[in-house]
Amino acid sequence: MLLEIPAVLSPAQVSDVRARLAAAEWIDGRATAGPQSARVKDNQQLPEDHPLARDLGRLIVDALQQQPLFVAAALPLKIFPPLFNRYAEGHAFGNHVDNAIRYASGGALRTDLSLTLFISEPADYNGGELMVEDTYGVHAVKLPAGHAILYPSTSLHHVRPVTRGCRVASFSWIQSMVRSDADRALIFDLDTAIQRLAGEAPHHPAVVSLTGVYHNLLRRWAEM
Ligand code: NI
Repeated sequence: MLLEIPAVLSPAQVSDVRARLAAAEWIDGRATAGPQSARVKDNQQLPEDHPLARDLGRLIVDALQQQPLFVAAALPLKIFPPLFNRYAEGHAFGNHVDNAIRYASGGALRTDLSLTLFISEPADYNGGELMVEDTYGVHAVKLPAGHAILYPSTSLHHVRPVTRGCRVASFSWIQSMVRSDADRALIFDLDTAIQRLAGEAPHHPAVVSLTGVYHNLLRRWAEM
């Protein structure tokens, strides 16, 4: 499932993040790539242990955890401390699948979901679309600043070359309580339908039964 999470950061937060990142020293993005992706990766990153990356990363994790859409769709167990990348003119990232396991100070994390949060406005650069392949084809993603895209980490994806300006984004991975993308999508669809029914017919007894089904499915599938 490819899902847009709108307005993770407010416009004021985005301008603040952008201003703080503008003053940062960036390093070669190959520092965090595996051997296959290092061959196709050409961008810049903030070092993982950079105090600014940690600070801004915490802001983003807090914002994500307050987003009901993100929580319902990702069912997050662990969120990798967000990292930051920068694609200047000519930079790109060729086709790859993200590493299955990531290590942070909190221990290992299985990457079930990948997340990109756009920090530059689309008008600030040409190209730079995130291209994600799924069973329905290849999707081009370029979102307003502050919006994020969530997609299965099993997907092949690449970032098209930036041909003008500069594309700054944050990215992270999520280990979900529900490992299977298909099972998680089913739970999310059920949740969405229950929310809708509860809005239109809050006293209908089916709301209680379906909410019970939701929790009992989650109980069956959740791993901690
Ligand atoms: Ni990737």
